[in-house]
Amino acid sequence: EKGGYDWFMRKEIFEQPKAVADTLLGRYTAAGALQLDELHIGEDELRRIDKIIIVACGSAYYAGLVAKYAIEHWTRVACEVEIASEFRYRDPIIDGSTLVVTISQSGETADTLMAIRHAREQGAKVIAICNTNGATIPRESDAVLYTHAGPEIGVASTKGFLTQVAACYLLGLYLAQVRGTMYDDEIAKVMEELAATPPLIQQVLDSLDAIRELAARLVDTESVLFLGRHVGYPVALEGALKLKEIAYLHAEGFPAGELKHGPIALVDQGVPVFVVVPPQGRDQLHDKVISNIQEVRARGAFTVVVAEAGDPEVGAYADVLFSLPKVSTLLQPLLAAVPLQMFACEVATLKGYDVDQPRNLAKSVTVE
Ligand code: F6R
Repeated sequence: EKGGYDWFMRKEIFEQPKAVADTLLGRYTAAGALQLDELHIGEDELRRIDKIIIVACGSAYYAGLVAKYAIEHWTRVACEVEIASEFRYRDPIIDGSTLVVTISQSGETADTLMAIRHAREQGAKVIAICNTNGATIPRESDAVLYTHAGPEIGVASTKGFLTQVAACYLLGLYLAQVRGTMYDDEIAKVMEELAATPPLIQQVLDSLDAIRELAARLVDTESVLFLGRHVGYPVALEGALKLKEIAYLHAEGFPAGELKHGPIALVDQGVPVFVVVPPQGRDQLHDKVISNIQEVRARGAFTVVVAEAGDPEVGAYADVLFSLPKVSTLLQPLLAAVPLQMFACEVATLKGYDVDQPRNLAKSVTVE
């Protein structure tokens, strides 16, 4: 059933182009307008929302962090993202005009379920983004937007994560459409770019030959740092989580701008630092991250850089470079997460660990 792969995780990494395509399928018109009739929450109700809170755990939480950048940019509604197990214990400010979006691959995560129960008791509407038909979380939500990743068996989430980002983007564009915060042609343009990502994910998958060699080189390292900025920051967190989960390797993700506020003290000769570089663009993000790479390199870091193909500035500072097809900043996580997933899979494989069933972890965490 692993289709010739050694691990379900590897199979699921390779299924990502299809998983994302299936998640987008049928949810937009030929003209690029969003069509999410399945939501069953009235448009008037969606116009009254004045705050969005995303609650989730683990990788799903990181998908939510990515989504926040897009949702606030597109809808101009304030969007918070919160770890589900923290949410109800802090007396969050929720009322009838709060939209709670919950993200869960399994749909059975107890922390997440408790959080949405609390939100609904306070009068919030809850939309679940879920991969499992009829699971408890979608059943207890007001509406559901399913990700169509197919069953995810490897404990470490891969296609689950990517499809969660894609589904959040659909929801964000839909809200922008209903609330009139974007022009139709702007929505169509983003939708067209989103719909074009599956073959680009495939291109990334086809270009990962160097990962095994990199994993062999770093297999005995004690710690790995991941840096990113903007949507690249949650991608860094996700890259670090994969390594912890399956390779039992200490790893931490940081916003690249925080380096100088502390984490750079960790950087020493040979410490591997992965850096997700935003696409070159009009803003200063890209150049700022380039300076961050120079800073860690000057202190001896071994740099693994994930950047847009043809970026002329990264080559000089990258010990190892993974190139991504050109996309806009908000869509880059759908590509940039892939080499990081594969890296964790290769390191864990080389260490001889059970990639699909890492120690101490369960696929769905049904206790708080
Ligand atoms: C990460 C991972 C976990 C889950 C988290 C939420 O690889 O598997 O962090 O993402 O436990 O699970 P769901 O999405 O099922 O609620």
